[in-house]
Amino acid sequence: MLNAIEVSPKVWWVGGIDWNERSFHGYTTEKGITYNAYLIMDEKITLIDTAKATFADEFIERISEVVDPAKIDVVIANHVEMDHSGSLPRIKQVCPNATIYASAPQGVAGIKAHFGIDCVGVKTGDTLNIGERTLHFVQTTMVHWPDNMVTYSDKDGILFSNDAFGQHFASTKRFDDENDLCEVFKQAKKYYANIVWPYGMQAHKALEACGGLDIKLICPSHGVIWRSHIAEILEKYEAWTTYQTEEKAVVVYDSMWHSTEAMAREIVDAFIKEGISAQLLDVKDNHISDIMLAACDARYIAVGSPTLNSNMMPTVASFLTYFRGLSPKNSQRIGIAFGSYGWSPLGPKQVEEQMKNIGFEMPLPVITQQWIPSKERLSEIQAQVVKVIEDTRA
Ligand code: FEO
Repeated sequence: MLNAIEVSPKVWWVGGIDWNERSFHGYTTEKGITYNAYLIMDEKITLIDTAKATFADEFIERISEVVDPAKIDVVIANHVEMDHSGSLPRIKQVCPNATIYASAPQGVAGIKAHFGIDCVGVKTGDTLNIGERTLHFVQTTMVHWPDNMVTYSDKDGILFSNDAFGQHFASTKRFDDENDLCEVFKQAKKYYANIVWPYGMQAHKALEACGGLDIKLICPSHGVIWRSHIAEILEKYEAWTTYQTEEKAVVVYDSMWHSTEAMAREIVDAFIKEGISAQLLDVKDNHISDIMLAACDARYIAVGSPTLNSNMMPTVASFLTYFRGLSPKNSQRIGIAFGSYGWSPLGPKQVEEQMKNIGFEMPLPVITQQWIPSKERLSEIQAQVVKVIEDTRA
């Protein structure tokens, strides 16, 4: 088992590593998950967060490598969600004298509702002296639950950021600069797109609230610690939380007999013709959480479905339902709906309706095709999309 790791003088990583978890609420976690918790060995021995309940033994064993858990004085529960609070009942048993702090009122109420455990409530601006260090609390409401907060340790310049800046990435190495950085940033973006994206405005406010802090380490509750690339991840969060898009296109579709696929390929060609990078993603072959990674900063999204039994394909409906739950309403993205049909264009029309509900700007009426599109019809479709691109740029 990986030992506890001292990530800063007298601050230890004591979390759990879930090497083989491949789904977090339906979001594919192909690199596994970590549940990070941190132990601060100050006059008041302090534990920041816990781990998922199934990792309680591993987590408490790591604490025990550093100190007898019974000596812990303070537990900070930055977040109620059970991947971080699930081991609180065990911690309560092994640390009977610890005082548990959570954000007020939602964190306190949430911990009580989940575990019947009483906590002391703290709010933004509150501090707690634990000896050489003073902990500062900043509530980060709706990033991504009502109770979320972050904790800043002034002596070390450590921001214990909980879910913010996290990545689902299991590794024996705890720091950004010890891992494949491309993969770490990819997983940070996938995490943002699938967990935090709907709450960009709140996340941006939270970033501003932490803006004056002298941050030397960002210790999230998932993935690696940001040590050498703090400026870059902050810059990326600035772009993501302000809904900045890139000039790129994602074309998502399902198809039964290749007509909708032919339309999708033609739409991709329109973007290529206009010098815009484009991805073609068959929703049967690409998980919706991976499509979100591609789509979350794309200026253009095209979605296509044929009609199946008077509806859009269930695969496409699933993707759009997921997208609707995640996408911010004010994203100012360009949407294009399309699809083929045999005797009724209900499927493509449902795609159009759902894309409008998501909040896309839809400059074109839904592009439909009965049976099989001819070469001439495909050229027309390409020309329509080229016009949309040119009008958007004008
Ligand atoms: Fe990682 Fe919202 O829990």
